[in-house]
Amino acid sequence: MREPSILVTGGAGYIGSHVVKELLERTDRTVTIIDNLSTGTRERIAALETIAPQPGRIDFIEADLADFARIESIFRAHRFDALIHFAASIVVPESVQNPLKYYMNNTVNTTNLIRLANEYGVGRMIFSSTAAVYGEPEEVPVKETTKTAPINPYGMSKLMSERIIRDAAAANDRFRYAILRYFNVAGADMNGAEALEAIDPRIGQSFPDATHLIKIAAETALGKRPKMAIFGDDFKTPDGTGIRDYIHVDDLADAHLAALEYLQRGGASDIFNVGYGHGYSVREVIDVMKRVSGVDFVVEQAPRRAGDPAVLVSDNEKIRRTVGWEPRYDDLAKICKSALEWERKLP
Ligand SMILES: NC(=O)c1ccc[n+]([C@@H]2O[C@H](COP(=O)([O-])OP(=O)(O)OC[C@H]3O[C@@H](n4cnc5c(N)ncnc54)[C@H](O)[C@@H]3O)[C@@H](O)[C@H]2O)c1
Repeated sequence: MREPSILVTGGAGYIGSHVVKELLERTDRTVTIIDNLSTGTRERIAALETIAPQPGRIDFIEADLADFARIESIFRAHRFDALIHFAASIVVPESVQNPLKYYMNNTVNTTNLIRLANEYGVGRMIFSSTAAVYGEPEEVPVKETTKTAPINPYGMSKLMSERIIRDAAAANDRFRYAILRYFNVAGADMNGAEALEAIDPRIGQSFPDATHLIKIAAETALGKRPKMAIFGDDFKTPDGTGIRDYIHVDDLADAHLAALEYLQRGGASDIFNVGYGHGYSVREVIDVMKRVSGVDFVVEQAPRRAGDPAVLVSDNEKIRRTVGWEPRYDDLAKICKSALEWERKLP
């Protein structure tokens, strides 16, 4: 039997690959990635293999979580002591058009994974959840105790998964979890850079039809889009545009390592918001992207979109206090510049 390794589903995706990078650079663990490459890419796996300080640290298996027999055979052949579960479908408008895809891929496949984790004695699970479980929150900053009320199937598919994880853990005292509710994830691999000019990412966000503001602003700065839109300038915020809590993907990745250590030292199962605890408006993001790119790109005004709250900002006290996570890149210029430099490398 091999040494225990960490199973990462969705490790060929945006956030998963950044977490694998941190596991390779900051621990001596071996990592098994399961990904069906539906939105993940082989290029990221290749980049991670280059980043790995020793050969053999990553084992990439192309497989679909819906293929239960195949996934079970992977659990049988390995010894996993922890599971970090990123694999999911993540496009909110698509979840409204095709809800069953979301319940199958996000909720059913997660349930099957938990079942296997329990049957094969995997003691710890970190789950990628989202601020979308809060819907249009009743209070801001949003605490973990703020009422959950998803307004789309994507958010609901994640909330249902959370519930299933909690129930499974309540019935099995050898299975503990950390559910991380991410706020707005952005940016790309800092690759050790401190200064803005030194940022040279090896991995980043590649999803083609992204609806993420910072990626769209980077694409527009580079002329990949002729212009971009601000959806709504009549919110009750200082400049009228929506405010979001943008977190650098490397800090989010660190939160996973910190949560893993927390569970390892006996920490209790829990749910944590992961954000910076403060936000920036759409206009501020665009201004910073213009500044770091040196391009005064075209921005148009458009009506509000349904379901967009004015302000969505986390209260991150709990993860800081309980887990001991401290962000390193709480700086909008670094987030924008890393996204821009990554975007420059994409075709
Ligand atoms: N990007 C964000 O801003 C954000 C915010 C909140 C939560 N999340 C959550 O973080 C996780 C990762 O998101 P991301 O932005 O890296 O997305 P992504 O699409 O880049 O990554 C998802 C990965 O999962 C893989 N995958 C999907 N379905 C699979 C299946 N059935 N079997 C095997 N592999 C499968 C994809 O190929 C991809 O590599 C998701 O669970 C998402 O819900 C993301």
